[in-house]
Amino acid sequence: MENQEVRRVLSSEFQVHLREHVSPAHPTFTHPNNICWQVKVWPNGFTCSGYRCQTLPKAELRKQLQAVGSQVVDTLSNLEAERDRLRQTLAGLADNNAKLLKQKKKLEKPTCPTCGWFGMDALDANMDPVPADEGVPEATEAASTEVPDSTDNDETLPKRVRIVEVGPRDGLQNEKTIVPTETKIQFINMLSETGLTHIESTSFVSPKWVPQMGDHDEVMRGLIKKPGICYAVLTPNLKGFQAAVKAGASEVAIFGAASELFSKKNINCSVEESLQRFEEVMKAAKKANVPVRGYVSCVLGCPYEGKVAPEKVAHVAKSLYAMGCYEISLGDTIGVGTPEGMRKMLEVVTKEVPVSALAVHCHDTYGQALANILIALKMGVNVIDASVAGLGGCPYAQGAPGNVATEAVVSMLHGRGIHTGVDLHKLKIAGTFICAALNRQ
Ligand code: HMG
Ligand code: MG
Repeated sequence: MENQEVRRVLSSEFQVHLREHVSPAHPTFTHPNNICWQVKVWPNGFTCSGYRCQTLPKAELRKQLQAVGSQVVDTLSNLEAERDRLRQTLAGLADNNAKLLKQKKKLEKPTCPTCGWFGMDALDANMDPVPADEGVPEATEAASTEVPDSTDNDETLPKRVRIVEVGPRDGLQNEKTIVPTETKIQFINMLSETGLTHIESTSFVSPKWVPQMGDHDEVMRGLIKKPGICYAVLTPNLKGFQAAVKAGASEVAIFGAASELFSKKNINCSVEESLQRFEEVMKAAKKANVPVRGYVSCVLGCPYEGKVAPEKVAHVAKSLYAMGCYEISLGDTIGVGTPEGMRKMLEVVTKEVPVSALAVHCHDTYGQALANILIALKMGVNVIDASVAGLGGCPYAQGAPGNVATEAVVSMLHGRGIHTGVDLHKLKIAGTFICAALNRQ
């Protein structure tokens, strides 16, 4: 079939006529061993210049024709080899093209320029609203039975996960005793040696609201900043942003909430007002070329409102993403989420924000954080916030416990062959250091 194709191409470009010459006028015609033949070959589009006559013995003619025949066969197989080579080259080019397109798509996404990360995509229906003074709501009964079985479908997990270490900020903001600035700096410097690429180091919030972070300036100026590590800070408003940039922060995070009451308690404004405030920060950040990460708190439950609808989470996440946050971290602020709640919430949020731009930030009140993270990983999230030694909590979320421990997350991920780039041993040393400084076991 393919040979025929080549022949068809040849014959469409050249015309070849070969025929016996049977003119009785030819002098050798009468000799029985001779054959007189005529051949004419001319390219298409040209006029034939006439036949060329040649008289040959039949045996000689047969030899010549065989020679021509084998030349044609050789040419055909050369053409076929050439065609196969071209096909391979084409396939290689198509492959390359697909890779380039993929890279282009990644580059078009908002990116954290400091660490180069491409942003690398609810509480169970049973949860009742909890009045503020009743403290942290309990996890639903379904929680413990919903832990996903990882052994059967580990292939759905990502190959690499980026850990966002929030211990120096989320961890230390909630400590009753104010940790000395030097200790904070030493702690962050130790974390810088662990392979972490993103360390949320402090927050530029009002010291009247969170005195524990009142030394933000000194902390940022005192750090030994390692290249390739993003030392991010929280900034609730323009004032905080300007101070953070002045102190050398290379990235900031704005933090909103999916719950009205929590927003009011935490940053003293409604959700919509907070979004307007963040627009101002974003405008200044774009001008100063500072990447901005966004948080949505109370994505799986609120200490003041109880159940939070995934649609509310999606609305705030979408707004933050639309205004230019390169990544949105979804916070289970009080650790009441369950795997099923996480799944439902992510199903709704990923309709509005690409999963590649999402992170999860799980507090661990009921020991559900790892199970919740596993669900998020299986749904395509590959950025996980965690806090060394499980430090953490929000002073404005009543009863908010520690974040999921970075050691536990890294250990779980490494156990499943997922790369984090983090040295668990060095992480434990940093954890032991900060626990000793806090007089914890
Ligand atoms: P406000 O009282 O409405 O603000 O607080 P204001 O504009 O009226 O200012 C009041 C005073 O604060 C003024 O000083 C301002 O200058 C000063 P005064 O004139 O009275 O002397 N001020 C500031 N000072 C330093 N830095 C600033 C700043 N802004 C104002 N940036 C405000 C509004 C947002 C400032 C306040 O509510 C606040 O600082 N809140 C922060 C609360 C906080 O840090 N919460 C913990 C972090 S969120 C969290 O942990 C959750 C998370 O982990 C995710 C999760 O788990 O879900 C991220
Ligand atoms: Mg938190």
